Formats: sequence, structure tokens, C-alpha cells
Amino acid sequence: MRIVILTGAGISAESGIDTFRGEDGLWSKVNIEDVGTPDAFARDPALVHDFHNQFRRSLENHQPNVAHLALAKLEAEHPGTVLIVTQNVDNLHERAGSQNLIHMHGELYKVRCQACEAVYHWTDDLSVKSSCQRCQAAGQMRPHVTWFYEMPMRMDEIQRALAACDLFLSIGTSGNVYPAAGFIADIRRMGRAHSVELNLEPSEGSSLFAECIHGPAGEVVPVFVDQLLESSMDAISASEKPK
Ligand code: APR
Repeated sequence: MRIVILTGAGISAESGIDTFRGEDGLWSKVNIEDVGTPDAFARDPALVHDFHNQFRRSLENHQPNVAHLALAKLEAEHPGTVLIVTQNVDNLHERAGSQNLIHMHGELYKVRCQACEAVYHWTDDLSVKSSCQRCQAAGQMRPHVTWFYEMPMRMDEIQRALAACDLFLSIGTSGNVYPAAGFIADIRRMGRAHSVELNLEPSEGSSLFAECIHGPAGEVVPVFVDQLLESSMDAISASEKPK
């Protein structure tokens, strides 16, 4: 069985990282158009760097939670493939041990040079004076994240994985931001995979899922993963019984 798991900010909420929407969400404190668009970066790069620098620095204080760990266990123990497609720019999935992972909205611990397109690991603050370690151009460095109005990363790979999967899980995402919010409609249209939403509350696309489990990720994800692993082990032992 091939499993694709879409994750969003809700899976990192119990690690103490703010989600984006909702009452205390990040977008209630800062304006997207000031810090999260290519226009904002063209207009005031220092402000955009400052926002991302603070966000990057804050990540050091957060640890993967039991939901991240459960997904890493699923990947390690499930007899089929498990791909996590995350909208999160934090690194909690990889720190939990997940390896087959696509960061469709990029990573805060990576930067990109707009002059030579090099992408590499970066833990320090970025500034308008930062130079590229590859081509040495100054003032061309940006966070390697997808801003609003930009195309998410590795979409071809994601679409291929969605088309081939047998089970699609969506965890901790409000279903407000496309194209990720449209994955469930793609899954329904293709008509082959079972789909399950695991979220604190019904998302925008909730009614499209075959199954919904509502509750905190730290509670519902480990239980769901254990049940899934148990049922795949049962299926294997049934298929190995002599006929
Ligand atoms: N467990 C499970 N779900 C939770 C929890 C929790 N402990 N806490 C919050 N949630 C749910 C919320 O109910 C909400 O539906 O997680 C979802 C978070 O939604 P958003 O804040 O909109 O985050 P996300 O869906 O990841 O946003 C998508 O929007 O701003 C952009 O680029 C940003 O990647 C982000 C994208």
C-alpha cells in the first residue's frame, strides 16, 4: 500500500509553533502582503528578512512531538511506501526521523541565490548584504520558501505520488491554501485512494474526505498509525498463510 500524507501547521502546533490562521495564528499578527510575497521582498527586503530570521531563530526552541514521531515510525515499519508532503517550513519531520519528505513550501533552513539559483543549508540570519557562498553575488539571497503568488516546489513529483497512492492522509491543515488544498479533490477525481482527514476541527475540504478524525494531532495521529500498522501486518500474515 502506497501512502501519501499531506501535513500542515497543525502537526507542529503541539511542538509550540504557531499555526497561520485562527485567532492567535501568525497571519493575525503580521500582514501577509508585508512579509510573505515576492512584491514585499522587492519593496522592503530588510523587513522580509527580519520576519524570516525571527521565524528561523525560533525553530531552535521546538522539538518534534508524538505526531511527527508516529509518522516517522509509519515510514520505518510500513511494508509499502510512505511519502510526507509538508507545507511546513520547519524541520520537525526530519528531526523526528522521516526521510521520504517533500517540503512543498520550502524550508527555513535553506536559502536560495537569485543570481545563480544555488540552494543550500543556512542557519544564520540573512540580510540584504548577505553574499552567495557559490557565486559570491551580494544582495541576491532569499529564504528558500514559497511565498504567496509563487508556485510550490516539486509539484510534478507530488502529482505523480497522489495519482499512484492507495491512501491519502491530511493532517493539521486548514485547507485554505492551494494547490495543497486541492489535493483531496484530485484524489476524489482519480477515485482509487481511500482518504482520511486528521485535524483539530473540520477543514475547508472536510466533506470530500472518506473519513474524518477530529482531535489534536498528538492524540489522534499515534493511535491512527498504530491501527494502520497493525492492519497492514494482519494483511501480510493472512497472505502468507498456506492455501
Ligand atoms: N492538532 C491538529 N490540528 C491542529 C492542531 C493540533 N494540535 N492545532 C491546530 N490545528 C489545525 C487547525 O484547526 C487548522 O485547521 O491545523 C490547521 C492549521 O491551519 P493553518 O494555520 O491554515 O496552516 P496550514 O493549513 O498549514 O497553512 C497552509 O498557508 O500561510 C500559508 O505557507 C503557509 O504552509 C502554510 C499554508
